[in-house]
Amino acid sequence: MGKENRNPFLSARTSTGIGSNIIYEPEMSSTNTRALELLRENVENGTVVITDHQTQGRGRGPNVWESSPGTGLTFSVILYPHLPISYSGFTSIVAGVSIVSGLEEFGIKPTLKWPNDVYYEGKKLGGILCESHVRKGRLDSIVVGIGINVNEQKDSFPSILNEKATSMSMITGISYNRAEVLKSVLHQMNVWINIWAGGATKNIIAAWISHCHHMHRHVKFRSGKNWVEGSFTGLSDHGEAILKTESGIQQYQGSELQII
Ligand code: BTN
Repeated sequence: MGKENRNPFLSARTSTGIGSNIIYEPEMSSTNTRALELLRENVENGTVVITDHQTQGRGRGPNVWESSPGTGLTFSVILYPHLPISYSGFTSIVAGVSIVSGLEEFGIKPTLKWPNDVYYEGKKLGGILCESHVRKGRLDSIVVGIGINVNEQKDSFPSILNEKATSMSMITGISYNRAEVLKSVLHQMNVWINIWAGGATKNIIAAWISHCHHMHRHVKFRSGKNWVEGSFTGLSDHGEAILKTESGIQQYQGSELQII
Protein backbone atom coordinates (compact mmCIF):
# COMPACT_ATOMS: atom_id res chain seq x y z
CA MET A 1 0.00 0.00 0.00
CA GLY A 2 1.42 3.39 -0.99
CA LYS A 3 2.14 6.00 1.64
CA GLU A 4 -0.68 8.23 0.33
CA ASN A 5 -3.27 5.46 0.83
CA ARG A 6 -2.59 5.45 4.55
CA ASN A 7 -3.54 9.11 4.93
CA PRO A 8 -7.00 9.00 6.57
CA PHE A 9 -7.60 12.64 5.66
CA LEU A 10 -7.14 12.36 1.89
CA SER A 11 -10.87 12.73 1.28
CA ALA A 12 -10.57 16.28 2.70
CA ARG A 13 -8.20 17.26 -0.11
CA THR A 14 -9.34 20.29 -2.09
CA SER A 15 -8.80 20.78 -5.82
CA THR A 16 -6.91 24.03 -5.30
CA GLY A 17 -5.67 26.39 -2.58
CA ILE A 18 -5.63 25.44 1.09
CA GLY A 19 -5.78 21.65 1.43
CA SER A 20 -4.67 20.67 -2.07
CA ASN A 21 -1.63 19.11 -0.42
CA ILE A 22 -2.23 17.23 2.86
CA ILE A 23 0.81 15.81 4.64
CA TYR A 24 -0.14 13.19 7.24
CA GLU A 25 1.94 11.37 9.80
CA PRO A 26 0.33 9.14 12.47
CA GLU A 27 2.32 10.87 15.22
CA MET A 28 4.03 14.23 15.48
CA SER A 29 5.26 16.24 18.44
CA SER A 30 3.40 19.30 17.12
CA THR A 31 1.96 19.94 13.67
CA ASN A 32 3.11 23.57 13.98
CA THR A 33 6.68 22.47 14.70
CA ARG A 34 6.55 20.05 11.72
CA ALA A 35 5.08 22.78 9.50
CA LEU A 36 7.84 25.21 10.51
CA GLU A 37 10.38 22.53 9.48
CA LEU A 38 8.58 21.98 6.15
CA LEU A 39 8.79 25.71 5.41
CA ARG A 40 12.52 25.22 4.96
CA GLU A 41 11.73 22.71 2.20
CA ASN A 42 9.56 25.32 0.44
CA VAL A 43 6.38 23.23 0.52
CA GLU A 44 3.56 24.77 -1.48
CA ASN A 45 1.24 27.49 -0.25
CA GLY A 46 -1.85 26.04 1.46
CA THR A 47 -0.18 22.77 2.50
CA VAL A 48 -1.92 21.14 5.47
CA VAL A 49 0.11 19.16 8.01
CA ILE A 50 -1.99 16.81 10.12
CA THR A 51 -1.53 14.03 12.64
CA ASP A 52 -3.68 11.62 14.64
CA HIS A 53 -1.50 11.88 17.70
CA GLN A 54 0.14 15.11 18.72
CA THR A 55 2.45 14.45 21.66
CA GLN A 56 3.62 18.00 22.46
CA GLY A 57 0.87 20.25 21.11
CA ARG A 58 1.55 23.91 21.75
CA GLY A 59 -0.88 26.66 22.69
CA ARG A 60 -0.40 30.39 22.97
CA GLY A 61 2.39 31.48 25.31
CA PRO A 62 3.16 28.82 27.90
CA ASN A 63 -0.03 26.85 27.20
CA VAL A 64 -0.07 23.29 25.88
CA TRP A 65 -2.72 21.70 23.66
CA GLU A 66 -3.70 18.33 25.09
CA SER A 67 -5.40 15.83 22.79
CA SER A 68 -6.06 12.11 22.98
CA PRO A 69 -5.01 10.12 19.88
CA GLY A 70 -7.48 9.82 17.01
CA THR A 71 -10.33 11.80 18.56
CA GLY A 72 -9.89 15.45 17.55
CA LEU A 73 -8.35 17.44 14.74
CA THR A 74 -4.83 18.81 15.14
CA PHE A 75 -3.46 20.39 12.00
CA SER A 76 -1.47 23.32 10.62
CA VAL A 77 -1.85 25.28 7.40
CA ILE A 78 1.19 26.81 5.70
CA LEU A 79 0.63 30.18 4.02
CA TYR A 80 2.95 32.59 2.24
CA PRO A 81 0.97 35.82 2.52
CA HIS A 82 3.67 38.41 1.65
CA LEU A 83 1.76 41.03 3.61
CA PRO A 84 2.98 43.81 5.90
CA ILE A 85 3.69 42.56 9.45
CA SER A 86 0.74 44.53 10.78
CA TYR A 87 -1.56 41.86 9.29
CA SER A 88 -0.17 38.99 11.37
CA GLY A 89 -3.04 39.24 13.89
CA PHE A 90 -5.66 39.20 11.18
CA THR A 91 -4.74 35.66 10.12
CA SER A 92 -6.02 34.39 13.46
CA ILE A 93 -9.26 36.32 12.90
CA VAL A 94 -9.73 34.76 9.43
CA ALA A 95 -8.99 31.31 10.88
CA GLY A 96 -11.56 31.84 13.67
CA VAL A 97 -14.28 32.83 11.21
CA SER A 98 -13.40 29.83 9.01
CA ILE A 99 -13.66 27.41 11.94
CA VAL A 100 -17.07 28.68 13.10
CA SER A 101 -18.35 28.67 9.48
CA GLY A 102 -17.02 25.12 9.04
CA LEU A 103 -18.63 23.83 12.24
CA GLU A 104 -21.92 25.55 11.45
CA GLU A 105 -22.21 23.14 8.52
CA PHE A 106 -22.63 20.45 11.23
CA GLY A 107 -25.30 22.45 13.04
CA ILE A 108 -22.95 23.69 15.80
CA LYS A 109 -22.78 27.43 16.46
CA PRO A 110 -19.56 28.21 18.35
CA THR A 111 -18.47 31.59 19.63
CA LEU A 112 -15.10 33.32 19.38
CA LYS A 113 -12.97 34.84 22.10
CA TRP A 114 -10.29 37.28 21.03
CA PRO A 115 -7.73 36.54 19.75
CA ASN A 116 -7.69 32.80 19.15
CA ASP A 117 -10.22 30.74 21.08
CA VAL A 118 -13.27 28.86 19.87
CA TYR A 119 -15.89 28.32 22.56
CA TYR A 120 -19.26 26.67 22.95
CA GLU A 121 -21.44 27.72 25.89
CA GLY A 122 -18.41 28.88 27.86
CA LYS A 123 -16.32 25.74 27.22
CA LYS A 124 -13.31 25.53 24.95
CA LEU A 125 -14.00 23.74 21.66
CA GLY A 126 -10.93 24.79 19.72
CA GLY A 127 -7.87 26.99 19.54
CA ILE A 128 -5.62 28.67 17.00
CA LEU A 129 -1.87 29.23 17.18
CA CYS A 130 -0.37 31.36 14.40
CA GLU A 131 3.41 31.47 14.08
CA SER A 132 4.98 33.67 11.45
CA HIS A 133 8.33 34.35 9.79
CA VAL A 134 9.12 37.91 8.87
CA ARG A 135 11.53 38.91 6.09
CA LYS A 136 12.37 42.45 5.01
CA GLY A 137 9.52 43.85 7.10
CA ARG A 138 6.90 41.60 5.52
CA LEU A 139 5.12 38.43 6.59
CA ASP A 140 7.02 35.83 4.60
CA SER A 141 5.19 32.77 5.88
CA ILE A 142 2.59 31.91 8.49
CA VAL A 143 1.79 28.57 10.08
CA VAL A 144 -1.83 28.55 11.21
CA GLY A 145 -2.16 25.80 13.82
CA ILE A 146 -5.70 24.64 14.59
CA GLY A 147 -6.96 22.28 17.25
CA ILE A 148 -10.64 21.26 17.27
CA ASN A 149 -12.20 18.87 19.78
CA VAL A 150 -14.32 16.54 17.65
CA ASN A 151 -15.09 13.11 19.16
CA GLU A 152 -13.65 13.60 22.64
CA GLN A 153 -15.79 12.62 25.62
CA LYS A 154 -15.53 14.11 29.08
CA ASP A 155 -12.96 11.52 30.22
CA SER A 156 -10.77 12.15 27.11
CA PHE A 157 -9.57 15.42 28.64
CA PRO A 158 -7.11 15.70 31.51
CA SER A 159 -9.10 16.17 34.76
CA ILE A 160 -8.06 19.82 35.02
CA LEU A 161 -9.85 20.50 31.70
CA ASN A 162 -12.95 18.36 32.46
CA GLU A 163 -15.18 21.31 33.24
CA LYS A 164 -13.51 23.73 30.83
CA ALA A 165 -13.43 21.81 27.54
CA THR A 166 -16.05 20.42 25.22
CA SER A 167 -16.17 18.66 21.85
CA MET A 168 -18.50 18.54 18.85
CA SER A 169 -19.59 15.07 19.96
CA MET A 170 -20.26 16.16 23.56
CA ILE A 171 -22.43 19.00 22.19
CA THR A 172 -24.58 16.91 19.82
CA GLY A 173 -24.14 13.28 20.94
CA ILE A 174 -23.01 12.41 17.39
CA SER A 175 -19.70 10.79 16.42
CA TYR A 176 -18.12 12.64 13.49
CA ASN A 177 -15.95 11.62 10.56
CA ARG A 178 -12.94 13.84 11.22
CA ALA A 179 -12.00 14.04 7.52
CA GLU A 180 -15.44 15.54 6.81
CA VAL A 181 -14.99 18.14 9.56
CA LEU A 182 -11.51 18.95 8.20
CA LYS A 183 -12.90 19.25 4.67
CA SER A 184 -15.54 21.70 5.80
CA VAL A 185 -13.05 23.89 7.70
CA LEU A 186 -10.54 23.85 4.81
CA HIS A 187 -13.32 24.78 2.39
CA GLN A 188 -14.27 27.72 4.60
CA MET A 189 -10.63 28.78 4.95
CA ASN A 190 -10.42 29.03 1.16
CA VAL A 191 -13.66 31.03 1.09
CA TRP A 192 -12.56 33.50 3.78
CA ILE A 193 -8.96 33.83 2.55
CA ASN A 194 -10.35 34.73 -0.87
CA ILE A 195 -12.66 37.31 0.73
CA TRP A 196 -9.58 38.73 2.48
CA ALA A 197 -7.57 38.71 -0.77
CA GLY A 198 -10.44 40.57 -2.42
CA GLY A 199 -10.11 43.32 0.19
CA ALA A 200 -13.45 42.78 1.96
CA THR A 201 -11.85 42.99 5.41
CA LYS A 202 -14.99 44.62 6.81
CA ASN A 203 -17.05 41.49 5.96
CA ILE A 204 -14.57 39.32 7.87
CA ILE A 205 -14.66 41.64 10.88
CA ALA A 206 -18.47 41.68 10.78
CA ALA A 207 -18.55 37.86 10.70
CA TRP A 208 -16.07 37.64 13.59
CA ILE A 209 -18.02 40.18 15.67
CA SER A 210 -21.29 38.35 15.05
CA HIS A 211 -19.72 35.29 16.73
CA CYS A 212 -17.80 37.13 19.46
CA HIS A 213 -19.06 36.19 22.90
CA HIS A 214 -17.65 39.26 24.68
CA MET A 215 -18.82 42.17 22.51
CA HIS A 216 -19.51 45.19 24.75
CA ARG A 217 -18.54 43.12 27.79
CA HIS A 218 -16.15 44.44 30.40
CA VAL A 219 -12.77 42.83 29.81
CA LYS A 220 -9.28 42.87 31.25
CA PHE A 221 -6.51 43.00 28.72
CA ARG A 222 -2.80 42.35 29.10
CA SER A 223 -0.74 44.91 27.24
CA GLY A 224 2.94 44.12 27.73
CA LYS A 225 3.40 43.87 31.51
CA ASN A 226 0.30 45.93 32.34
CA TRP A 227 -3.38 45.10 32.51
CA VAL A 228 -5.98 47.52 31.19
CA GLU A 229 -9.73 47.31 31.68
CA GLY A 230 -12.50 48.46 29.43
CA SER A 231 -15.40 47.52 27.25
CA PHE A 232 -14.63 45.38 24.16
CA THR A 233 -16.03 47.34 21.24
CA GLY A 234 -14.72 45.55 18.14
CA LEU A 235 -11.75 44.86 15.87
CA SER A 236 -9.47 47.09 13.82
CA ASP A 237 -8.78 46.37 10.14
CA HIS A 238 -5.63 44.56 11.29
CA GLY A 239 -7.43 42.37 13.82
CA GLU A 240 -6.42 44.37 16.89
CA ALA A 241 -8.86 44.46 19.79
CA ILE A 242 -10.59 47.82 20.28
CA LEU A 243 -11.32 48.69 23.88
CA LYS A 244 -13.14 51.64 25.38
CA THR A 245 -11.13 52.46 28.48
CA GLU A 246 -11.13 55.35 30.95
CA SER A 247 -8.54 57.04 28.76
CA GLY A 248 -10.56 56.63 25.56
CA ILE A 249 -10.76 54.22 22.64
CA GLN A 250 -7.56 52.18 22.28
CA GLN A 251 -6.36 49.39 19.98
CA TYR A 252 -4.37 46.43 21.28
CA GLN A 253 -2.35 43.80 19.48
CA GLY A 254 -2.35 40.07 20.31
CA SER A 255 -2.10 39.33 23.98
CA GLU A 256 -4.34 37.93 26.68
CA LEU A 257 -7.95 38.87 27.31
CA GLN A 258 -10.06 37.99 30.33
CA ILE A 259 -13.80 38.57 30.57
CA ILE A 260 -14.71 40.09 33.93
C1 BTN B 1 -4.52 27.87 22.16
O1 BTN B 1 -5.69 27.63 22.46
O2 BTN B 1 -3.73 28.40 22.97
C2 BTN B 1 -4.04 27.49 20.79
C3 BTN B 1 -4.06 26.02 20.59
C4 BTN B 1 -3.57 25.60 19.23
C5 BTN B 1 -3.44 24.08 19.13
C6 BTN B 1 -3.09 23.62 17.75
S1 BTN B 1 -3.22 21.88 17.57
C7 BTN B 1 -2.44 21.96 16.02
C8 BTN B 1 -1.35 22.99 16.11
N1 BTN B 1 -0.12 22.40 16.57
C9 BTN B 1 0.23 22.82 17.78
O3 BTN B 1 1.24 22.46 18.41
N2 BTN B 1 -0.67 23.72 18.22
C10 BTN B 1 -1.70 23.97 17.25
